[in-house]
Amino acid sequence: MSTLRGKRVLLGVAGGIAAYKIPFLVRQLRKSEANVRVVVTHSAKEFVSPLVLATLSENPVEMDFVTNVSGKLSWNNHVKLAEWADIILVAPATSNTIGKYVNGICDNLLLATLLSSKSPIFWAPAMDLDMFENQANQGNLNLLNKWGQTVLPSPFGDLASGLVGPGRMAEPDNMYFAIRSYLLKDEFWYQKKVVLTSGPTREAIDPVRFLSNNSSGQTGVALIKALVDRGAIVTWVHGPSHYHLAGMENVTYKPVLTALEMRDQVMSIWSESDIYIGAAAVSDYRPKNSFKQKMKKRDMGLDSIKYELNPDILAEVGENKMEGQYVLGFALETINGEEEAFRKLKLKKADAIVLNYANQKKAGMNSETNIISLVSKDGNENWPLLSKELMAVELLNWIKKHSKI
Ligand code: CTP
Repeated sequence: MSTLRGKRVLLGVAGGIAAYKIPFLVRQLRKSEANVRVVVTHSAKEFVSPLVLATLSENPVEMDFVTNVSGKLSWNNHVKLAEWADIILVAPATSNTIGKYVNGICDNLLLATLLSSKSPIFWAPAMDLDMFENQANQGNLNLLNKWGQTVLPSPFGDLASGLVGPGRMAEPDNMYFAIRSYLLKDEFWYQKKVVLTSGPTREAIDPVRFLSNNSSGQTGVALIKALVDRGAIVTWVHGPSHYHLAGMENVTYKPVLTALEMRDQVMSIWSESDIYIGAAAVSDYRPKNSFKQKMKKRDMGLDSIKYELNPDILAEVGENKMEGQYVLGFALETINGEEEAFRKLKLKKADAIVLNYANQKKAGMNSETNIISLVSKDGNENWPLLSKELMAVELLNWIKKHSKI
C-alpha cells in the first residue's frame, strides 16, 4: 500500500470513552510512516494515557498553553501546531468540543489550535445517541459540513451507556482510511464514480444448498482500499465473502447473493457511473427452480436439478457503455488464457481484461497474491507476481494511464 511518508497528521483527542481507541489509529498512521502529533484536552487524559500516545506517536503530547519542564516555563505555540498539520482529525469529537468550536470558544489548547487552523479538519463525533441526535448537536454538525469540514459517519451500534444507536466514534480503520484518502487523493480518481463487483455469487438449490465458487473477495477489498485512497466514490456490489471492509466513507455497500441481484444493482447505477470494474466471479448458471424445502436424497437425485443461464453482467455493462465510460473485466482461465481473454474483451465490449489463471501457483482465487496480464486493444501486458494489494494499486495506475476518460 502507498506510504504516508512525510505527511503530517495532527490528532485532537477530546474527553470521551472512545478515546481509548486512539492509540490504534496512531499506530496505523505511524506504520504508514506519517508524522503524527497529538493534542489532548484535560478530560481526554482520563480516558487515554498521554504517555501511550506520546510513545506511539514518537512525539510529545500537547495539552496546555504553557508547559513547565523542570521549572522552565514555555508557551505552546498553537498557531505553529495548526500550521504544521496537513490534516487535523478530532476524535473522539465530543459535544463539548464541537459546540465550543462552532461558537469560537477557545478555552484549551486543542480549541485554540483548531480555531487557528487553515488545514482541513475532520471530525469523528462520539456521544450517546440522544445527545448525538439532539438538535443542538445536529445543528453544529450541519454547520461543520456547511463550512466545508468533514464529519465522519458515526456508526450505529452499542454505546458505552448500554444503549444501542448512532453516535459511536468511527472505527480506527475507517478514520485511518479517511485520512489516507484525503492525503493521497489523486486527480484522475478523485470523485470518479466507480461500480465495483467482487466475490462469488450464490445460487440457491434449496434452503441449505447452493451453487457457488471459490472466490475469496480479497481482490475486491484491495481495490476498495486503493479506490478510497484516491478519493473515488464507489458503489461496491459484493457477493458473500469473509473479506470485508465496512463503514468506509465514499463507499455505498450493496451486498448481494445471486447473479440476478448483482446485475440489478449494477444496472441501476451504471448509467450514472464513470468506471465499471467487474472483479466478481459470477456464477454462470442458476438452478431453474430453487426448492422451498430441503431436498431429500430419497426423493430426488442431483440430476433432477435443472439449470438456466445467468445474465452476463459485464456484457450488459459493455453493451450499455456510453462515451466517457470505461469498463474493466476479469477473465479466470485454466487453459488458452490469452486467446480467451481477447475473446471476452471483444464479446463483452470491455476496454481491458485482467487475465489470471485458476491453476497457477500463488495466483487466482483464494490466494493473497496474483499473476495477471492486462489484455486490451493495445495488446497483452504480462505482470509479475504481486500481492493483491499492490496489484490493485497498479491496476488503478494502469487505468489512469490507459483510459481516455
Ligand atoms: N461475468 C459477468 N457475468 C457473468 C459471468 C461473468 O459479469 N454471468 C464477468 C466476470 O465478472 C468477469 C468476466 O465476466 O469480469 C469474465 O468472467 P469469467 O468467469 O472468466 O468468464 P465467463 O464469461 O463466465 O466465461 P467462461 O466461464 O466460459 O470462461
